Amino acid sequence: MQSYYVTTPIYYVNDEPHIGHAYTTIAADVLARHYRMSGGDVFFLTGVDEHGQKVEQAAEARGIQSIELADAVVERYRSLWPSLEISNDDFIRTTEARHKKAVTAMWQRLDKAGAIYKGFYEDWYCVPCETYWTGTQLKDAGRWEDKVCPDCTRAVEQVKEESYFFRLGDYQQKLLDHIHAHPDFIGPESRRNEVLRFVEGGLRDLSVSRTTFSWGIPVPGDEKHVIYVWIDALTNYLTAAGFPDDVSAQWPADVHLIGKDILRFHAVYWPCMLMAAGLPLPKRIFAHGWWTVEGAKMSKSKGNALQLDKLLETYDADTIRYFLLREVPFGQDGDFSFSALKQRYNTELANDMGNLLNRSLSMLHKYQDGALAAIGSEQEIDRSLVAAVEAMQRDVDAAMQRQAFHEALEKIHAVVRHGNRYVEENAPWALFKQGDHLRLATVLYHLIESLRLIVLQLSPFMPKKCSLMLAQIMNADIRVESLSLADSGGWGLLSEGHVCGKPAPVFPRMD
Ligand code: MSP
Repeated sequence: MQSYYVTTPIYYVNDEPHIGHAYTTIAADVLARHYRMSGGDVFFLTGVDEHGQKVEQAAEARGIQSIELADAVVERYRSLWPSLEISNDDFIRTTEARHKKAVTAMWQRLDKAGAIYKGFYEDWYCVPCETYWTGTQLKDAGRWEDKVCPDCTRAVEQVKEESYFFRLGDYQQKLLDHIHAHPDFIGPESRRNEVLRFVEGGLRDLSVSRTTFSWGIPVPGDEKHVIYVWIDALTNYLTAAGFPDDVSAQWPADVHLIGKDILRFHAVYWPCMLMAAGLPLPKRIFAHGWWTVEGAKMSKSKGNALQLDKLLETYDADTIRYFLLREVPFGQDGDFSFSALKQRYNTELANDMGNLLNRSLSMLHKYQDGALAAIGSEQEIDRSLVAAVEAMQRDVDAAMQRQAFHEALEKIHAVVRHGNRYVEENAPWALFKQGDHLRLATVLYHLIESLRLIVLQLSPFMPKKCSLMLAQIMNADIRVESLSLADSGGWGLLSEGHVCGKPAPVFPRMD
């Protein structure tokens, strides 16, 4: 069995889960389900990022301990994921002992390799805003000459803080070589180019410890320093693989799914750290785009962040999963609107998919008492449907390898439309009238068998709906999770005499 390790970012606990967080997690879940069904030994990791100044401040503002705040938000994530059908194999918290052990070991490895040194970190601080600004941020905001805060335009003061540094600059050429030698290392292509340009521009050593707050993992041997939250956070991918013990069973990860905003951390800092620590690099990092909601950026102050628990009161998990991965090519930005969701659902699911299932099963019951009968020889039109189904299986797998979810769904939908055309062109009602029972049985067999294989391919995206559809086709209570493509993925497994269940609506129209 081939192993397949897929990860999501670990989510900050100073925010409530919204549609942006769900997006990456659903995408990772679809990959995990697809590769499990394909016979892979899948390890799917998600979790939460609990340390750092923001969490410390958010907890202080509420008058509670950081860990209390973390405990509360972690529960929100933990309980949300099952309601979105997320099938993660592990859930990591960065406050766990196993993680502290891994981060400490990571630090020690970097230190031993000579990749860490002590120096001074210089920053700009706005006292009224209580915000630190880097020189670059002041420059970018056009405030460098005035030395004023980009937010409130009051004077900023320079602070000089002792800090450990990671020799990021030493890895510039090695990283460039790696990216050039592994064209699939970063996806999509546009993000790969963005990273190349950034690295070519030069890498400065990275400040990797802080002394101004304490909510984090201490630097081994110098406990007044807290390890920079990104070293802490990125190492989670190794912790879950068993680091610092032998990680070769899981590591390297096959794909880290992330949002475009955290590309630099994953595609620059993380590989350089791993190179310094003498560990293999992840095989692929894929950055998706960002969602707006009804045309507007989601923000806490606007209060328009789409909270998942609210959304789930109106729409079922599978519909949300389908819409998010179908509406926008993975890698591009997109807009979440209720009218677009409704339209996708009504045309592709209620009309096309639901209709194909419903009419096929209805005809089977009306003309053959629900049973598949002996079939005649295949005509060109039948062979073309079988070929389309088999091409879909190959295309979906190829799309999954590139995280092209929208493409996979497009290929599946194309076969659904093909199936509906096949019904029109063969007109089973006319065959029945003419008494051509052999041809009728052949057409119905091809329809039901296509549906079974369509449902299999769709099941990683819509596990519940597909279990419902499969239950009708197989006339048995089968959970899609128990199926493997090796056992059930071939054409022609349904045999003469098999009785299908009665059709029941799976995709009622949305008004
Ligand atoms: N804790 C870090 C990640 C550490 S990974 C080692 C973090 N957390 S986060 O909670 O702020 O964001 C997690 C993910 O949510 C990011 O990948 C980010 O891109 C994603 N999204 C947040 N808002 C989003 C949208 N509006 N749309 C799509 N994804 C968005 O960053």
